[in-house]
Amino acid sequence: MVFPKSLFLSTLLILIIPFCFLSQTEIEIPIDKRVDDLLSKMTLEEKIGQMNQYNGFWNVTGPSPKEGNAKEKYDHLSKGWVGSMLNVRGANEVRAVQEIAVNESRLGIPLIIGFDLIHGYKTISPIPLAESASWDLEAIKKSAAMGAKEAAAAGINWTFAPMVDITRDARWGRVMEGAGEDPYLGSLISIARVQGFQGMDLSAPFTLAACAKHFAAYGFAESGRDYNTVDIGENTLHNMVLPPFKAASDAGVKTFMNSFNDLNGIPATADKNLQRTILKESWGFDGFIVSDWGSLKEMIDHGYARDENHAGELGINAGSDMDMESYIYLNEIESLLKENRIKIEQINDAVKRILKVKFELGLFDDPFKYCDEEREKKVTGSEEIRAGVLDMAKKSIVLLKNEGNVLPLKKKGQKIALIGPLADDKNSPLGNWRIAAENNSAVSVLEGMESYAENEIIFSQGVKLVNSIPAFHEEVQINTTDKCGFKAAKKAAKKANVVVMVLGEYGFQSGEGRSRTKLDLPGFQQELLEEVYKVNPNIVLVLMNGRPLVLNWAEGHIPAIVEAWHLGTESGNAIAEILYGDYNPSGKLPMSFPRSVGQMPLYYNYKNTGRPGANGADAGSVFWSHYGDEKNSPLYPFGYGLSYTTFEYSEIELSSNSLSMNSKIQASVVLKNTGNFKGKEVVQLYIRDHFASSIRPVKELKGFELVELKPGESRKVTFAIDAELLQFYSARKTWEAEPGAFSLFIGSNSSTKRMVDFELN
Ligand code: BGC
Repeated sequence: MVFPKSLFLSTLLILIIPFCFLSQTEIEIPIDKRVDDLLSKMTLEEKIGQMNQYNGFWNVTGPSPKEGNAKEKYDHLSKGWVGSMLNVRGANEVRAVQEIAVNESRLGIPLIIGFDLIHGYKTISPIPLAESASWDLEAIKKSAAMGAKEAAAAGINWTFAPMVDITRDARWGRVMEGAGEDPYLGSLISIARVQGFQGMDLSAPFTLAACAKHFAAYGFAESGRDYNTVDIGENTLHNMVLPPFKAASDAGVKTFMNSFNDLNGIPATADKNLQRTILKESWGFDGFIVSDWGSLKEMIDHGYARDENHAGELGINAGSDMDMESYIYLNEIESLLKENRIKIEQINDAVKRILKVKFELGLFDDPFKYCDEEREKKVTGSEEIRAGVLDMAKKSIVLLKNEGNVLPLKKKGQKIALIGPLADDKNSPLGNWRIAAENNSAVSVLEGMESYAENEIIFSQGVKLVNSIPAFHEEVQINTTDKCGFKAAKKAAKKANVVVMVLGEYGFQSGEGRSRTKLDLPGFQQELLEEVYKVNPNIVLVLMNGRPLVLNWAEGHIPAIVEAWHLGTESGNAIAEILYGDYNPSGKLPMSFPRSVGQMPLYYNYKNTGRPGANGADAGSVFWSHYGDEKNSPLYPFGYGLSYTTFEYSEIELSSNSLSMNSKIQASVVLKNTGNFKGKEVVQLYIRDHFASSIRPVKELKGFELVELKPGESRKVTFAIDAELLQFYSARKTWEAEPGAFSLFIGSNSSTKRMVDFELN
């Protein structure tokens, strides 16, 4: 029968018109229903496929891979046996793999495309530890959002970030990826990053699903050696490790990644208590958990799983939903189900979680929404993103010392010797985890300084760095055999009014697999510093590094020290602006800087012990908790950082020194800018709970405010304190505040002694 055209049109209009008056949400089928409908159509093989994640295979946009591993991956994609890929990037490349999944597989389920967007995609922002030094949550959120925008334009829709591991041991190379040692600051930064990546609307084409990692306690790897075992008690787990993860979950993070380490004898990947009981049940997390790279298989080496089949069973039962690159779920789930060692409900639950995130990203409505080559061209390296990473870089810099106001430098008529292997390096400032960035794409300090002011710059490398750019997986050492550049460096220093030395770690000397037993300046750099100092002590030391270093000699001799971390693409411009005083540094350390590597792990929120100090009954004896050859305190404490101006704090005013369980009290100080520059200060609030059912640290950060003041200007800063702020995970295994005596501190870093007492009744 031929349907008359006019009748067809009027029928169509009758059908369409009512919908024109309905809102988008009214005509949309709820996501849970769409997930259930799809699940009901899926075969077991297809379900297992969703739980399988593969690393990229190259040349997807070229001729289709015919051989080996790539051929196998291609076949699996077209059969619907792959739910996600990582490390496929670029609108073109992502389109090619997505086309296989969507057009060739039976149900056409789109892939979720993961990538380690840790600090920028092609345009690199400061390493996360550096960004955390800004204590500027809005800036951190914006930085994540800009990274998301650039990556989403290149096909990516899921980042394996934020890394929210609390880190106390600078020997561990991955401290560069996190927010440092404090759970309060770490939680706020965790929220800022999740919100930055995911935005208000996950289905928008410039936002990504975020991933809180590594769940859990990876940052407590014994002796700072990567992948090492972790043995910590409930007090530390709940009060220190878990808060930033809980914060991410509460902020609506879509995914979690588990971790390589074992926690108290159980690999995190198989930890049912962590993944099912705490995360999914108690916190109500409804996204999915991805394993870390091959971490299912690694359970065999841990000595926990008998074989791959057993590893699969352990992972499923513990609640790990997606297998990153170990092929175990793909190969083992079917037989595990047959043998009744896992349940189909567990598989259905995992698949539903994965599909839900894909629906929320809008991938089913348009699988190619992240694959727009035009947009990619426009967004990548745009002015807006470059300006954003420059802003973040300036905010991340920490001024550690400025004796005799060596800084800021004069803009004219100066001879500046610029010395050091990192001074002209365009690669190190990118840091580690910058997979999509072009090598050597950062602005070096030399470039930044040369373009900034009208001074004569005499550059000398002093010691060579590395001969060629090392690969991501290679061990890196800074030259330890060749001092022939010392002579030229000293000659340059002799001629100069001021020397700027750029020293520290090569970009790949921190990061995954980059644990160190020494935390000093690697290679001949310390010797170079001391040699140059002999001919011209008027030195500004600019540090580039991914972790706290031991800087005792420099602190004792060098008048000005600037912690510039690995600051990303705009590094040299940011550093020049700071050195010339057009930007006043305001960063504060998110990790304690040690006096000696032997102090590791070092953190400000330690417990007092029964023998805390030389002032008590043990004065004059050795029998108190200390080292015979070094102080207990750090060289630079958590929260420390100077400015070109000075700030004065008034005494603390407390509205009452008695707080009940359901009231509030206010603590305030008046902050005054007593120097000559406009500047920002991070006013920090710390609390000490003097006795409790489970011992509390000597100080805990409980609030902070970033305040900007003009010279001579004052402002009152007020913090509200209530019982909720004083809660902790107690001996009763619950979050509660316990009545008793507290002290409250307000100051410019964690070593502040400005204090008042109050009682919680
Ligand atoms: C790291 C993860 C990362 C994953 C994928 C692993 O080696 O531990 O943090 O997301 O690789 O690149």
